[in-house]
Amino acid sequence: MEQWTKQEKQQVLKEADLPRLHKLHDSISKSKWRTQYHIQTVTGLLNDPNGFSYFKKKWHLFYQWFPYGAVHGMKHWYHVTSDDLVTWKNEGMALKPDTYFDNKGCYSGSAFVKDDYLYLLYTGNHKEEDGTRIPYQMIAAMNEKYKVTKMKRPLIEPHPDYTEHQRDPKIFYKDNWYWMLLGAQDKNLHGKMILYKSKQLAIGWKFAGELKVKGYESFGYMVECPDIEQIGDKWLLLFSPQGYGAKGDEFRNAYQNVYMTGDLDLNTLTFTPDGPHKELDRGFDFYAAQCAFQQEYKNTAILEGWFGCSDYSYPATDEEGYQGLLTLPRELSIENGKLVQKPIRTYEKLKDEVVFEAVRGNINKDSMHGRMPEACIVALENPDSNAVSLEFFAKTMERGFAIDYDANRKYLTIDRKDLENQCNTEYGTDRRVKLENGLRSLLIFVDHSSVEIFVNHGEYVLSSRIFPNPDEHMIRMRGKDITLTIWKAKQTVEDSAVF
Ligand code: FRU
Repeated sequence: MEQWTKQEKQQVLKEADLPRLHKLHDSISKSKWRTQYHIQTVTGLLNDPNGFSYFKKKWHLFYQWFPYGAVHGMKHWYHVTSDDLVTWKNEGMALKPDTYFDNKGCYSGSAFVKDDYLYLLYTGNHKEEDGTRIPYQMIAAMNEKYKVTKMKRPLIEPHPDYTEHQRDPKIFYKDNWYWMLLGAQDKNLHGKMILYKSKQLAIGWKFAGELKVKGYESFGYMVECPDIEQIGDKWLLLFSPQGYGAKGDEFRNAYQNVYMTGDLDLNTLTFTPDGPHKELDRGFDFYAAQCAFQQEYKNTAILEGWFGCSDYSYPATDEEGYQGLLTLPRELSIENGKLVQKPIRTYEKLKDEVVFEAVRGNINKDSMHGRMPEACIVALENPDSNAVSLEFFAKTMERGFAIDYDANRKYLTIDRKDLENQCNTEYGTDRRVKLENGLRSLLIFVDHSSVEIFVNHGEYVLSSRIFPNPDEHMIRMRGKDITLTIWKAKQTVEDSAVF
């Protein structure tokens, strides 16, 4: 692995480097693990989704971006847009760390549409010469030509009752106030969420207090990337706590992204959850998700997650000089008190020709007699909750990425230990979920280096990165009385070098 000096990690994008970035893009665009329909880093490293919003009749999304290589260096914001949440276009850099307040990175945040501007709220990660970190909550305005102007002064300076870890502003408007929800760590090193409020967007922000979550004192040692959305008459609270250990089949990743549904009282700053918090995703790779709330899609929020996690490495692409993609956008709703996560409704546009079809058939080790499509959609209906097994990117003697449903014990298991390229094995090579009501359906999105599995029309989602080699190309399927269809997937996200 390439070693990066501190200085190299602290590079800020400059005009003179554009030829270098084009060269980097040229080389990584030939990688076998580039995806067809996921937002992936243009060069270097991508982490959290930021500023997800709908502005001037387009969806806008930004991601945390270090342009020069597969390391967590100086964070910029990279901008992508979409008309339908399926087709995405690279628009170039939106924010770079070039002021006193963000001298060591433009960290994560959200966006707010007002008048003719999309306002970007982010954390300026300031560091002093001696390494002391001072987080500032900043604002910038983007006009319809995508020109971004930073406001000179921070909206919020760090609060003295919390450590240097106060960041990732989520802005929302409720009861004639602007609210900002931040992740924070208190002086006892406990993870908290704190709220600020103001009557005006760009001035007058005052500390409102800690968000009190009934039944919880704190969350691990730090909370990152909080998000809150109203869905119908309920509220959805999402956040990424750090410092949890595995609990049986749950919380097995390095860090988790959790949610609760419940009620929010902004007078008392109290969130009353309907039940215990749960992981948003039960696969290997998911963190720092963010929602764009949109009135047009009634009673839903649209979610984007980082298809990765802090402290993970992905040697296969790291060695090629890049890392990171975002998950498919999901539509969230709350049905009968439960969170339901479905792929964005426009996903049908991804479907190309059908390459396999079995209608209520018994499939016994069918392998399609050939190569598994590297980008495809697999839909399985299992009306009687029979046992199922699927193997993607397998070899004659190896199972590749295996998905198994055990009908007796009602466990759905995914296992990636048989793939040649491994990553982050210290967190285990399998994940499983108990399906109390059996397995009725799977909708699976495979895209060169990723697999997302939607279970039972939105009951669970399992997202996993995989890096199959060319000799891992077989598919095997087994199931009794199931309906299974496989479509090739189209290319809907351009891999273009726009800086
Ligand atoms: C989460 C996070 C955020 C921070 C950003 C920096 O992955 O650590 O808390 O703002 O990434 O890139």
